[in-house]
Amino acid sequence: MAILGIESSAHTLGVGVSEGGRILANEKMMYKIEDKGVIPAKAADLHAENARIAVEAALGKAGLSIRDIAGVGYTKGPGMGPCLRVGQLIARTISVDNSIPITQVNHAVGHIEVARHLSRAKDPLVIYVSGGNSQILGLVDAPFRHYHVFGETLDIGIGNMLDGFARAAKLNPAWGSSVARLAKGGRYIDMPYTVKGMDFTFTGLLTHATNALRSNPHRDVAYSLQETSFAMLCEAAERALMLTGKNTILVCGGVAQSERLRQMVSTMAISHSVRSFVAPDEYNADNGAMIALVAEKMLDHGMECALADCDINQRYRVDSAEIRW
Ligand code: FE2
Repeated sequence: MAILGIESSAHTLGVGVSEGGRILANEKMMYKIEDKGVIPAKAADLHAENARIAVEAALGKAGLSIRDIAGVGYTKGPGMGPCLRVGQLIARTISVDNSIPITQVNHAVGHIEVARHLSRAKDPLVIYVSGGNSQILGLVDAPFRHYHVFGETLDIGIGNMLDGFARAAKLNPAWGSSVARLAKGGRYIDMPYTVKGMDFTFTGLLTHATNALRSNPHRDVAYSLQETSFAMLCEAAERALMLTGKNTILVCGGVAQSERLRQMVSTMAISHSVRSFVAPDEYNADNGAMIALVAEKMLDHGMECALADCDINQRYRVDSAEIRW
């Protein structure tokens, strides 16, 4: 039986359908980002207006009707409160109207699991990089099975760092790819490099790069910012790889769409004779299919949520989400 997944943690309203681990639909509608970034209340309004259209589009793509849907999952968090609430409401409505079970999914688990599913990797080291998050993770079994955070940003996510720099350099959204375009052919200038064990920080680097725009070619600053921040991630991941002895690295999340980051991770992986895998961009950007896929696994493993307990959590940590499969 098919499962519907609703993703609405930020500017994307995604609706996906999964059946027996096969992705049947992955439809999305996006709030257009302007100079100030995502305004949560406006994005939430747009998600609410588009809810019916997006759900019908996903069902149509899957060739199913709502009566074929056996369960529904939504993103509990982390994310923007007003946006998460809309997704929760859509899922609750579908659950009540059709008397089908509901479950709540961690957004990071969605990104990781869709990449793990597509790569068929059993037990990878994960580099999860998005706007608000940057973490090095791996499955552990105690005290319950979950993605343990071996290292993470101690301040802002790498995506938000790149966005902040792009705005200072007056680039256009989507900012990550604008920085990548500007960085082409740049020369390296010194940047602060902060890795503490397997943790890292980005705000000092952002401040330095923003100030450097005043007295350096913007192309060189963009290039150096990318090289430095990606190298920090690779160093932290390399340490975690040595610690855990895992044989596959997955890169996932919005910033995994960066070609340069993929190259650097691949070079590091090859030097350790380890396989690296990046999901197609469709699944690195926020999407409903990843939520449907995880919701299906959760419902298969008895992780249904009572309607009264279905909530949202803007700071829902990936290491508090149980992985029973
Ligand atoms: Fe995401």
